[in-house]
Amino acid sequence: MSRLHFCLLSSALLSSCSMITGTKTYSLNFDGQTYRSGTTTVNGKAVRYRAYENLVYVQRPEDVTTEIMNIYVPEEYFEGKAVGSYTAQTAPIFLPNQIGGYLPAQPGTVEGGGLGGMGLAAGGQAPTTANTPAATPTTAAASAPAGSSSGTTSSAPNAIQTALSRGYVVASPGARGRSSKNAAGEYVGKAPAAIVDLKAAVRYLRYNDQRIPGNAERIISNGTSAGGALSALLGATGNNADYEPYLRALGAAPARDDIFAVSDYAGITNLDHADAAYEWQFNGVNDYTKMQITVVSGQVQRTQIPGTLTTDQINVSNDLKAAFTPYLNGLALRNGDTVLNLDAAGNGSFKTYVASLVQASAQRALDAGTDLSSFTYLTMQGGRVTAVDFDAYVKAAGRQKTPPAFDGLSLENAENELFGTRTVNARHFTAYSQQHTAVTATQADAQTVGLMNPMNYIGTPGTKTAAHWRIRQGTADRDTSLAIPVILGTKLSSSGYDVDLALPWNVPHSGDYDLTELFAWMDRVVAQ
Ligand code: DHB
Repeated sequence: MSRLHFCLLSSALLSSCSMITGTKTYSLNFDGQTYRSGTTTVNGKAVRYRAYENLVYVQRPEDVTTEIMNIYVPEEYFEGKAVGSYTAQTAPIFLPNQIGGYLPAQPGTVEGGGLGGMGLAAGGQAPTTANTPAATPTTAAASAPAGSSSGTTSSAPNAIQTALSRGYVVASPGARGRSSKNAAGEYVGKAPAAIVDLKAAVRYLRYNDQRIPGNAERIISNGTSAGGALSALLGATGNNADYEPYLRALGAAPARDDIFAVSDYAGITNLDHADAAYEWQFNGVNDYTKMQITVVSGQVQRTQIPGTLTTDQINVSNDLKAAFTPYLNGLALRNGDTVLNLDAAGNGSFKTYVASLVQASAQRALDAGTDLSSFTYLTMQGGRVTAVDFDAYVKAAGRQKTPPAFDGLSLENAENELFGTRTVNARHFTAYSQQHTAVTATQADAQTVGLMNPMNYIGTPGTKTAAHWRIRQGTADRDTSLAIPVILGTKLSSSGYDVDLALPWNVPHSGDYDLTELFAWMDRVVAQ
């Protein structure tokens, strides 16, 4: 039987056949008539909504299982009512992605969404190597089962439920990831696919702004870890023409893709400098505890594997640490009037600034009544945290990744797979790891690597970078260096953007753990 006949015989297989033949196109017009009505309970209150689910947001998807979006709208907006101070015309659009591990991601749902970006997409294979994502949501919001639509659960509401209860329209896009394949077996989710998908989703929302309640000029993106990185990238790169050819190939809606604000939790970003940043922080800490993630009978299992760096790894650490100072100094970052720089040993005003953010975090915890007496690297006097011994803090936090933390010399990491091609699963993306490779390997081109780094785009000509930023990375997060969010936040604020940067006390690699504060921040920036 010919492929065409097989496709015609089975309508259920139409979409997968179309991926082979490239014939099926999807409408970009939002259909307001097809929806499901739902009710969820948030803090004891019934929240009614309309659900528009699995909307394909491009005309020619490469992977119809992920290039889809779920849109949820408070029912009040169809009754001409307000929710708080928002109406169908003014409501901001909350755009949470569920991307984790740079894997393919499904759109979030009211009942099951809000895993703080840690959910593995259906079809997304869990990483099995040691340096790969160590997603350990441990806080209530991140790990609690999501509330059910019958409203019988008392668990903390997830981000989508919280958003609806506060009058936000929710649009949660899925996106291709590093293991996405088409029916022909080619990889279709390698860089820059995920950011192209998020941009296409934003274009769909803006193209349909008159048909969908909410204000597409008030889109606020949210994500955790790889999802935080993509949230930041989306906010940094608004309308930049570099992404245009990819968007055009998918048949993205003809509309702008800049957004209003970014929430970024634990963003695994600035990947081409993250190896150096990690060794700037962890050089000299030779014992490590890697997180190994495997899937056993469909369940994600995380195992801690202790080890000690080899002499070769220590040499790599020294090389990478040495590369951080020239990179950091080249950024010419400022905190107010202070130039942030480092000497050859990695000390200087940048390090002092990072330590001051840890100190401010400890102070907030102390003010909230947290017992900090076991944190011996803190100096406290009369209810004040007066100093942080940063090197002792780093030792206490402990190393999680072996050098290079991201561009693995054996192509073993999530990020190596992110930078693969349609036919090559994994590549290097830094000159250092290519030069020191332990396997036969090629290096991703500079253009592709550049498309994944928000630092390249902030405030550049032809780009509309988001005006408002909320950046969080817990002080117990060892998945990337604290330098990464600090560099991102400082670059943004010194470029004139509104930045709320904090390192929440003793919070591990996770997101969505402070939804009350997150939504208060969103309400505030929208009201400005
Ligand atoms: C994630 C975590 C990592 O440590 C990493 O390198 C990439 C992604 C994540 O949890 O998404």
